[in-house]
Amino acid sequence: MTFLQLIDHAPHQTLEIAGSQGGPLTGTITVPGDKSISHRSLMLGAIAKGTTRIKGLLLGEDPRSTAACFSAMGAKVSDLEQEWVTVEGTGGDLQEPADVLDAGNSGTTLRLMLGLLASQPEKFFAITGDGSLRSRPMKRVIAPLLEMGATIAGKAGNTLAPLGVQGQQLKPFHYHSPIASAQVKSCLLLAGLSVEGDTTVTEPSLSRDHSERMLKAFGANLSIDSKTNSVTLHGPAKLTGQTVIVPGDISSAAFWLVAAAITPGSNLLIENVGINPTRTGILEALEAMNADITLENERDVTGEPVADLRVRHSQLKGAHIGGDLIPRLIDEVPILAVAALLADGKTTVTEAAELRVKESDRLAVMAAALTQLGGEVSEHPDGMEIMGKGKGAQLTGASLDSYTDHRIAMALAIAATRATGTTQIARAEAAAVSYPSFVATLETAAASK
Ligand code: S3P
Repeated sequence: MTFLQLIDHAPHQTLEIAGSQGGPLTGTITVPGDKSISHRSLMLGAIAKGTTRIKGLLLGEDPRSTAACFSAMGAKVSDLEQEWVTVEGTGGDLQEPADVLDAGNSGTTLRLMLGLLASQPEKFFAITGDGSLRSRPMKRVIAPLLEMGATIAGKAGNTLAPLGVQGQQLKPFHYHSPIASAQVKSCLLLAGLSVEGDTTVTEPSLSRDHSERMLKAFGANLSIDSKTNSVTLHGPAKLTGQTVIVPGDISSAAFWLVAAAITPGSNLLIENVGINPTRTGILEALEAMNADITLENERDVTGEPVADLRVRHSQLKGAHIGGDLIPRLIDEVPILAVAALLADGKTTVTEAAELRVKESDRLAVMAAALTQLGGEVSEHPDGMEIMGKGKGAQLTGASLDSYTDHRIAMALAIAATRATGTTQIARAEAAAVSYPSFVATLETAAASK
């Protein structure tokens, strides 16, 4: 008998998990392609000259939104279900779309695309997204784009989608970003591609650098100053189509790293995971929590470091997660909070206010859900404090909600495997945004005892 089932509550699905019936996580699994790299390969392919070939593209809803937007602007994107996806680029001359562009749930699609659209002179674009995306802050990219000479209008005093963009010839600019955000940095670098001169972004600590790596591979001229966390794109740049092999997403692997670490008897190999140093904060945090994780078969694949990750069960202990580590594990805090709840001692998360403006308010949603599961959790403006329940602890099954946030749905599903009774997670279909096969992998990796 399976320990989990999906119950249809059209248009939503509830995931029901009988925690005590799941077994240890064993064997070998792979995770879907990296979401950030998937978006960028489609976008750079769409604006490059010639053909881009992509293997391992994430077939989640977010990259599908990116593919649909750029198809509507003249890029020829092949069938996404094939092993190799090809993008015939526009050479940078995007077509004015016939209708409103829909970024769906994807902040990366909207924010990165905005830089490209704002710099297309004499063309008009209207962009929207789902309810979650329409409530997320866009001023962080609109304000610097306006300084570069962009014309953008939007709801709530030009801070929220829906947005309208009248493309312009933009000017060189040095932006000192108040937040470490790869979306802000990438938006401005993409805008800089058609600027005559330098576009520089300086950030308070280093965010993921996939854009920098891929822009260089596609032929852009970039300088990086790691002392000041600054990157300069020397424009204008013409990109040429490339081959991109997308590694497995460490943010998706994180669910299994924690699931195996907290489940006695587990010994799991996760193959082909991207270990770009700007993304491996999760490994450092789990190591500080006494997790048993080893990297095997480290290699380089089309400009990104990759490894197989082996994780075995071990009793975790609390740790402090904050500072420069936060941008390097920003999407993993929900699942780290689950790890913390089963650890010995207290875990504190600080300087993580950005979590409040993700697909949901992840601090508030996780603090409430973990409390419902029997945890002692306090929420702070920029973080939370979690009292670990310690060795042998079990959580209490509860009726929970993903708030349509993919990472919340998956983090709570892993927590549910360590709870007594059954746990229901409403609106669990959100997982498909970044990990459509999550439930199937949970079922096979934690096969019933
Ligand atoms: C992403 C950057 C991060 C991350 C998001 C994807 C990207 O957002 O949370 O899931 O692909 O650039 P911020 O850069 O806004 O922190």
